[in-house]
Amino acid sequence: MTAVWKVAAVSPQAEELADAARMLREGGTVAFPTETVYGLGADARQTDAVMNIFSAKGRPSDNPLIVHIANRSQIGELAVLPGEAVSRLLDAFWPGPLTVVLPVVPGVLSPLVTAGLNTVGLRMPDHPVALQLIAAAGCPVAAPSANRSGRPSPTQAEHVWEDLHGRIDGIVDGGPTGVGLESTVVEYVPAAGDDGCGQGVLHILRPGGITAAQLRRALPEAEVRDASAHQEPDQAPRAPGMKYTHYAPRGVMTLVQGGAPEQVLARLQRELDEAGARGERTGALTYREHAGALRADHVAVCGSLGDLETVAHGLYAALRGFDEAGVSFIVAEACPETGIGAAIMNRLRKAAGNRIIRV
Ligand code: TXA
Ligand code: MG
Repeated sequence: MTAVWKVAAVSPQAEELADAARMLREGGTVAFPTETVYGLGADARQTDAVMNIFSAKGRPSDNPLIVHIANRSQIGELAVLPGEAVSRLLDAFWPGPLTVVLPVVPGVLSPLVTAGLNTVGLRMPDHPVALQLIAAAGCPVAAPSANRSGRPSPTQAEHVWEDLHGRIDGIVDGGPTGVGLESTVVEYVPAAGDDGCGQGVLHILRPGGITAAQLRRALPEAEVRDASAHQEPDQAPRAPGMKYTHYAPRGVMTLVQGGAPEQVLARLQRELDEAGARGERTGALTYREHAGALRADHVAVCGSLGDLETVAHGLYAALRGFDEAGVSFIVAEACPETGIGAAIMNRLRKAAGNRIIRV
């Protein structure tokens, strides 16, 4: 049985969250909204509880979980702050969609959370429901996205229900999430002889809600390196989760990229027509500006090219929509990789299993 609590997203009352908080304290698994996507939470110190996250999601055990806190004062018991640079990032972006990977304090968190690494990813989410729930639970909350492994991340409580009902103890329904893509995961590596004050390298392990340009503005002396953009295929990813097929609808998806928009649209249509002639049920993922130009069994508009934040917000629901429409063949139109576009394209490449046509 999975309990569902509907709560006010903006100013949830403490008593609305009391049952969910108690469930977390008692070792249960509870999904809750954050500003990025819904997370599936459990007390990060209780191994049985954390194990239930992995089994509910069908998540490989070598993929570590992000630990969520409600207050910066909780950092010290869990991790070591290596110096001023990371503190400046937290000043700039917490609470918010930034996860920092830090050396872990041994012996507090369940070893399942860190998947055997000597680091832990910490995040303070910018959502009143998440913050109140974590504070009321009184423990660090391990929470991966609340989807079955491999499925698009959930941006509405209904998505969590679709994937996980009967497998988890509760869902706090605080309405749709804001950003729509997961947090940016970063790790700061001080330069030799640097005491962590900012001349080191900031690795982006997973692009997300905070853009590379925002990180550069916050740490102007550091080198900001986007590992996900230059990943050699045979190189082990630094964020273990980045190596798995992710965010994928059930139909086979191909991403079409490059050239002038007319060329891309012409190629998308050719692929759709050929697939239709083979008897496939076809889907197209595109933007408001181009929706009228494509013919398919299911045309999904994820947002507007003029405002990529709307695309981030709508992407995962659009991907799930292909499954509802029973589509077997999907083409997706690429977007510019500027700002949040880098994170959108990272997710599109993964959803397409790296099937990319360049025109
Ligand atoms: O926005 C988000 O980050 C959401 C919400 C719920 O907070 N959470 C989320 O968690 O996306 P998850 O588990 O789906 O993705 C966590 C990512 C994975 O790619 C994982 O490999 C990486 O963070 N990660 C976690 N701990 C790490 C560590 N110690 N070192 C490197 N990567 C780590
Ligand atoms: Mg995930």
